[in-house]
Order: sequence, then structure tokens, then C-alpha cells
Amino acid sequence: MRIIVKDTEQELDIAAALEVTKQVIVKPDSVLTFAGGQTTIGLHQEIVNLYKQWNVDYSELKAFTLDEYVGLSPEDHKSVSFRIRNQVLNHLNIKSGNIHMPDGMAEDLDKACREYNALLDRHAVDLEILGIGTNGHIGFNEPGTEFHLDTHVKDLASRTAEMKAGFFGSADRVPKQGLTVGIKRIMMSKQILLLAKGKSKAEIIKKAIYGQITPEIPASVLQLHPFLTVMLDKEAAEML
Ligand code: GLP
Repeated sequence: MRIIVKDTEQELDIAAALEVTKQVIVKPDSVLTFAGGQTTIGLHQEIVNLYKQWNVDYSELKAFTLDEYVGLSPEDHKSVSFRIRNQVLNHLNIKSGNIHMPDGMAEDLDKACREYNALLDRHAVDLEILGIGTNGHIGFNEPGTEFHLDTHVKDLASRTAEMKAGFFGSADRVPKQGLTVGIKRIMMSKQILLLAKGKSKAEIIKKAIYGQITPEIPASVLQLHPFLTVMLDKEAAEML
């Protein structure tokens, strides 16, 4: 595991964007998985900045997203799909047919998961970008999620609803379920970039990267990945 600690959030965003950009420059037809949440907003901005400065070609890139709230459409400004498109994908020369996102509005959610898995079976992910919840979740793989699951529907933990209350206005407005790429699939990606910022993530980062590997801390499984890079700001790294 590589651990990179930066003094400020912006330095972290730039360093992470350089990792992503490097991947695209050396392998233009890379398959990337993007993650939502507050943590990756700055990264997305810096990816766009580097794209403009260096004319990086994203035309062959295949983009996937990690998760989506059940019941939110891609037009909903709070959906992961809308945010990732607006923050980053819409600003790159990526082909719309190369963008794939789980369908939180599907009538048959299990079928939507199976279809997403089938698509991922045909696209080996080169680089998976991850954030982490304060309870150790990655994507919507909440504590207790078995490591062998592929894309599935998950009830969101009450801690997740609390964590997202500010964003949705209150905890009870947070959707109750999420559709998420499973741990099995995350672990199949060739490289993983785990990002965390701020004091609120310090304790879980310590547990996730040095603690026991257990489904109770889903991110702890990442210790077993051969090409994991953990990128932190000083505050998220303060308990290491
Ligand atoms: C969310 C998402 C994750 C995200 C995490 C961290 O619930 N499902 O993909 O990485 O929580 O969110 P934030 O970056 O806002 O702290």
C-alpha cells in the first residue's frame, strides 16, 4: 500500500488528479470508476483543469460510477450520476456512449445490478476512485456487507443517513437504499485510489488501513489489494 499525505485539501486534489491523468495519458482507453460525495469534488475540478492545460484526450476512456441512490434519477441534482457528470464528465471530451452509471430508477433493481455486472464483466477497471464513509463504507457497501458480493442493492446505514443529512436537508430525506458496485468487483480493479479528507475521517482511516480486516469495516478489505494508494490530507492522517 502507498500512503500519500498532503498538507492541504487542494494539494491532495491536485496529487490525486495527477494520478488519474497519468493513467489516461499512458492508457487512453482506460476504464475508470468515479465516486461521488464531498471528498471527490476538488479532485474532479483538478481533473478538468489538467485536461484543459494539457489537452488530455479522454475520447477513448470508459467511465463508470460506483453507486447511486435508489429513487434518484440522473436529472436529480442530488443524484450521484448528475453530480459526477456535472463536476467532471461533461467537461471532458469523453463520448457519451462510454459513460455507464447504475440506474437508481430501474423498476427491477436486481436486473439493473445484473446488467451493470455484465457490463463490468466486459470492462476490466484500470483505476477505481473511492471515498470512505465515517463508518468505513466504500460505495454503499455498508458495515456487515459480505466481501464476495457483486453490484447489489443495499439499505443505507443510519450513520450514512446522518452523514448525508446536511446534503439532503435532513437525515429522513436521505434515500433509504443505494445501488452499489460490490466489494468483489472493487477488489478486481487493477488499481485503487482511496481518498479521505478532514478530521471526521481520521479514526476510520486508521481502522481501515491498519485494523482488522472485517466486513464490519468494509474499507479494511482494501489492505489486501496489491495496488492500493491511500491519499489523505493532514487531518485525515492525524491518527496514523
Ligand atoms: C457516500 C458514497 C461513497 C462516498 C462516501 C463518502 O455515501 N456512497 O461513494 O465515497 O459516502 O462521502 P463524502 O465524500 O461525502 O464524505
